[in-house]
Amino acid sequence: MSRPVVEARGLTKIFPMPSGAVTALQEVDLLLDPGESVAITGPSGCGKSTLLHLLGCVDTPTSGQVLIDGVDVAGLNDAARSRLRLTTIGFVFQRFFLLPMLTAGENVDLPQLEAGAIRRDCRRRTLELLDYVGLADRVGHRPSQLSGGEMQRVAIARALANRPRIVLADEPTGELDEVTGEQIAALLHRVHLDGTTVLIATHDRNLASSAHRRLVLGGRDHRLHEPGVDR
Ligand SMILES: Nc1ncnc2c1ncn2[C@@H]1O[C@H](COP(=O)(O)OP(=O)(O)O)[C@@H](O)[C@H]1O
Ligand SMILES: [Mg+2]
Repeated sequence: MSRPVVEARGLTKIFPMPSGAVTALQEVDLLLDPGESVAITGPSGCGKSTLLHLLGCVDTPTSGQVLIDGVDVAGLNDAARSRLRLTTIGFVFQRFFLLPMLTAGENVDLPQLEAGAIRRDCRRRTLELLDYVGLADRVGHRPSQLSGGEMQRVAIARALANRPRIVLADEPTGELDEVTGEQIAALLHRVHLDGTTVLIATHDRNLASSAHRRLVLGGRDHRLHEPGVDR
């Protein structure tokens, strides 16, 4: 049996606020097998982004564990966590978060250069990736010269740059019209078919329905559920 790519055990996140503690997640367990695609849905505020941040090692849980490829991330030092974020995890955000001063190509080059790639090799990969997302002819465009859907496609190319084991996508169609959203859903589906584990947090029914497995987060207990299961 293959080892899960991501394993969350009893993941709880409480934000201490002056007005009182906010429980964003409570005792969430999750297993993602290699090559799976999973959609997490649930109402706004149910903790989807919080969960992705914890799994993506950009925030730490109040309690519980995150294992990536069998490694408990709590045991990693800062350098090892940064390395893991850079090489094992690809993030796709609702608002794209491309660097505005850089071209599409440079945005995709950047994580490869940060991971130590040689510029010439990384540009070759960047061109392959921009071709993969259908934007080979936009390599020199800055984000302001691209449409929303094009920006998200560049962001997906960037997320794939270092051949991550998992792509975490947080409302990746949230800023896009329906048709463009469908194109992004199709592209993320292709990423999954090509072998990357994909976890998508979304309100978008079409996007959620393209996933292998759907989970619902939230309700009063801040937990993960299979859809349709009574609680
Ligand atoms: N940095 C933070 N500080 C305090 N509260 C937060 C923070 N991030 C999220 N929350 C709270 O945690 C809950 C879950 O938020 P979030 O994970 O963004 O939900 P979703 O992505 O499902 O809309 C919300 O009640 C939100 O207000
Ligand atoms: Mg969110």
